[in-house]
Amino acid sequence: MDTNEVLHTATRSSTYILPSDEAEKERLLLQHRILKKTYENRLFLAPVTLAPGDHVLDSGTGGASWLLDLARRVSPEVFLHGIDIESRIFPSNHAPNIHLSTDSITKLPASWSSTFTLVHQRHLILGLTFQDWQAAFKEMYRIIIPGGWVNLLEGLMDVAQYKWTAGPATLRLFTVVCALILARGMIPDLPLHLPALLEEAGFINIHVEERGVTVYGQEGADMRENTYRAMMTMKALVMNTGGLGFVKSAEEYENLVNAASKEWSETPEAAFQFFVVYAQKPSVLS
Ligand SMILES: C[S@@+](CC[C@H](N)C(=O)[O-])C[C@H]1O[C@@H](n2cnc3c(N)ncnc32)[C@H](O)[C@@H]1O
Repeated sequence: MDTNEVLHTATRSSTYILPSDEAEKERLLLQHRILKKTYENRLFLAPVTLAPGDHVLDSGTGGASWLLDLARRVSPEVFLHGIDIESRIFPSNHAPNIHLSTDSITKLPASWSSTFTLVHQRHLILGLTFQDWQAAFKEMYRIIIPGGWVNLLEGLMDVAQYKWTAGPATLRLFTVVCALILARGMIPDLPLHLPALLEEAGFINIHVEERGVTVYGQEGADMRENTYRAMMTMKALVMNTGGLGFVKSAEEYENLVNAASKEWSETPEAAFQFFVVYAQKPSVLS
């Protein structure tokens, strides 16, 4: 085993659901573009102006699309750090002020206390259990400077909370996927719990901005494709868990994803909900 493999074994989460490969890297880039457009081209909503000497952390950075974009918008003297439990899809070329390392958000280096002006974290719903979220926010609170901010973005996976009437295939597909999420100790309606979790960790000034991203017709084609690909990547895990009592074969699962995607394309109200939640570490600590 080389050093990287040892690190992977030491830090790899047993709960994370999606793969780490070139196809996933491409899907994450598509998703990054869709969400940037959804939030008016803003990379974060927390009221932070980054200045030379500031440190920013992107937790669960994946292919680092967010960090690469941020590097184009800030001074080269802002230090940009990305961490992930997997380094496989880290970019090979990046600006010299970007530093990438294999770490878990639930246990960060001791030397990082009170260092970061901004911590950004996006789409960890399929990676962290309730206890992991508590540990992650404790770590974020520790590493953020007094007065610094955390900015999260997560999607809602709990079909029971959707604001539109999902068709039968969509309902069945999300029932299977939510069963998988719950079986792994994770939270399908995670975005709704984030404010309370942040408050419990000591954060203040908690804000939530929700947006629906359409999957209907031509306008929704990109988000539909993104969701379709994400659902297809879960096929192997669903089948490894015996179809969770809902589907009997890989072919049945594929047919379900195709039927759900057709429903989205034909339902004008069909949209997936995303939540940006941002919060501040108090300037004066009690
Ligand atoms: C859905 S991807 C999102 C990647 C990136 N944030 C984006 O929006 O493009 C989730 C990422 O979180 C990483 N991850 C899972 N558990 C983690 C943990 N405990 N600490 C850090 N990263 C983790 C996964 O390896 C994966 O790269």
